[in-house]
Amino acid sequence: SSGPLKVAVTGAAGQIGYSLLFRIASGAIAGDRPVELRLLEIEPALKALEGVVMELDDCAFPNLAGIEIGSDPEKIFDGANLALLVGARPRGPGMERGDLLSANGAIFTAQGQALNKVAADDVRIGVTGNPANTNALIAASNAPDIPKERFSALTRLDHNRAISQLAAKTGAKVTDIKKMTIWGNHSATQYPDIFHAEIAGRNAAEVVGDQAWIADTFIPTVAKRGAAIIDARGASSAASAASATCDAARDWLNGTPEGDWVSMAVVSDGSYGVQEGLVSSFPVTTRDGNWEIVQGLEIDEFSRGKIDASVAELADEKNAVTELGLI
Ligand code: NAI
Repeated sequence: SSGPLKVAVTGAAGQIGYSLLFRIASGAIAGDRPVELRLLEIEPALKALEGVVMELDDCAFPNLAGIEIGSDPEKIFDGANLALLVGARPRGPGMERGDLLSANGAIFTAQGQALNKVAADDVRIGVTGNPANTNALIAASNAPDIPKERFSALTRLDHNRAISQLAAKTGAKVTDIKKMTIWGNHSATQYPDIFHAEIAGRNAAEVVGDQAWIADTFIPTVAKRGAAIIDARGASSAASAASATCDAARDWLNGTPEGDWVSMAVVSDGSYGVQEGLVSSFPVTTRDGNWEIVQGLEIDEFSRGKIDASVAELADEKNAVTELGLI
């Protein structure tokens, strides 16, 4: 369609929002197509959000076609072509995992229901707010009229981190690295897999030639990068998360380049032995707004163990939210 792309963003007054909105408004997702921003926040954060909107206005972005803000998801999601669900409830002091899952469950249940009612027929929904995979599962379960394939959770930040670490190790340019894969959950159990990746056309694991580095340095560095950033910055990764959120949405809508793929957490069809129905990260190609899991990759014993461990954690989270009646 030729009108503006309507992009809804939740948690718009938060840290990620402060970086994300300016990237979207300057064309990081839609290129030259105008965008309309529809920004959702909780009531107490709306004043701060008004300040962010003032700054967006002050950028005089040529392709920013309009901004709407509010705290009612049914109003803000109305007609949205793309919904980026960033806002979530962080784990507070003394909060148990069950408390965290129910607090977020309430948010993603309501937002799934609202999207189901009012989003555009072509809506795509990307979940960044943690626990992202399970939040996506909850939102999808509460939006029965939206195909489950329209929901995905963000593992693109992990994917980008893995590319960056591999480039630094090998001296390659990031653009020479293709076919990186993140498997499983966006959590410390995720499995960044370079056994199918390529560096300037050569197998990445062979170029590295150092299994100990892969197992003991690369994988933990990528999986624990979020904690390392909190440690250094005194705040969680926000600009890089925003950048990855844009990368993921842009590639989903516009397609992956020939000879490459990206990582997205999507509903499993049972591929690679991942329990059907879990929202798990896979290597995917995209085209015209649809994704397909890359098939036929050989999974060796080392990779099998890592994938299974992360998928087991996802199954566990699914059981927990099922018991809480959220899905
Ligand atoms: P933040 O705490 O700065 O901002 C979150 C915002 O969400 C707040 O402004 C809050 O008012 C808002 N919010 C809370 N409940 C809401 C609701 N029901 N509707 C609309 N807005 C609501 O957090 P930050 O740093 O922006 O991170 C957001 C989320 O992204 C967190 O869950 C974080 O863990 C996650 N994250 C995910 C990454 C990924 O790779 N998947 C990477 C980095 C962060």
